[in-house]
Amino acid sequence: MTTQFVPPTRGDGPLRFAPEIPNTPGKSETIPSSWYTDPERFELERKYVLNPSWQIMCRSEELQNTGDHVVWEGQGETIVITRKKDGSLAGFHNVCLHRGARIVRDSGECARRFKCPWHDWVYDFDGKVVGVPDREDFDQDILKGLQAHQVELAEWGGWVWGVLDGPGVAPPLDEWLGEDILTDLGAYRMEDMFLKEKLTWYVDVNWKVVVDAFNEFYHAPALHHIPPQDVKDGREMRIFEFDRHSMMVVPLKGALPKLKENPDHQSVAICHYTIFPTSVFNNNPEHLQLFRSVPVAHNKTRFETWELWYKSDDPDYLERTQRHWDHLKIVVGEDVWTWEDIAAASTSSYYKQNFFNDRECKIPKFHNMVNRIIEEGIARDLAGN
Ligand code: FES
Ligand SMILES: [Fe+2]
Repeated sequence: MTTQFVPPTRGDGPLRFAPEIPNTPGKSETIPSSWYTDPERFELERKYVLNPSWQIMCRSEELQNTGDHVVWEGQGETIVITRKKDGSLAGFHNVCLHRGARIVRDSGECARRFKCPWHDWVYDFDGKVVGVPDREDFDQDILKGLQAHQVELAEWGGWVWGVLDGPGVAPPLDEWLGEDILTDLGAYRMEDMFLKEKLTWYVDVNWKVVVDAFNEFYHAPALHHIPPQDVKDGREMRIFEFDRHSMMVVPLKGALPKLKENPDHQSVAICHYTIFPTSVFNNNPEHLQLFRSVPVAHNKTRFETWELWYKSDDPDYLERTQRHWDHLKIVVGEDVWTWEDIAAASTSSYYKQNFFNDRECKIPKFHNMVNRIIEEGIARDLAGN
């Protein structure tokens, strides 16, 4: 016997759609093209923005049993994350302390230890060196207490989050996400969902181009050919800027009248959550996508789309969700397609800046945040702190 699918109860968070809530909090702005194209700037972003921030690494469901491990690579780093016997997670930089080889090449299950392939140094789940062949041939002082650099890890929403620079660098994850995100995004109960599919593209654009693509609705009529009434309704969306993050509430097709009188915006709108710096959630009422931008180089990005469904055996839910997801895959493919044109123009001598209109305000807000963090980091270093 099957049970009819019912999404989680929502609607007890802050009201997100009402006539008195302004349409958009931002204004038109311009940013220089070098923020996307300069390799030196990418190095500054790695140091000050990417490595010290909480970012999504994988799903908790990928690490179910002791010894299950995920090798995550991005922004020039390689790390390994492992589920320990007590259920907690351990993570360390996947770089052998002997001569720098990658210790673990592939994600896998039920490991007991990790052995570097070059000279067989052995590491435990915490990255401690627990085995060195011909130990007596080394300077014994060097071998004492060797441990690979740690990654800070936490779980929320069924996701594994990590700070590559290690513990104590970023505020605790709860604080990083903030009350608005914990409440609003938390209402979807992503920990009760499962990974239905993951799509990966390697694209020749800067990582922020990928984040930008999911941070405005302005491109939808041209690129996704949505009908005029939906465009009109879309202009009624509400934008919220939180501390680091932001949110966009876009009425579903024909749902505007319902949205105006309904505190449960999540049942009648697509809610986008931009989680600084590299993740955008695109939440439909019954399933959702994480658009994860994984920086690779200043002009290379791994773009991942993670599709989550609720666990249900309701054939109607499964059928309509599959149909909608099949449609969304085409839509996402259209976004990816434009990045070829952005890549082609990115080296032009005449590409100087990006203009944004009021309704694209989430994008310059995001870039100004990146810029501010870099400037503050440089000032701190110059001051010797
Ligand atoms: S580089 Fe890893 S054991 Fe030598
Ligand atoms: Fe799009």
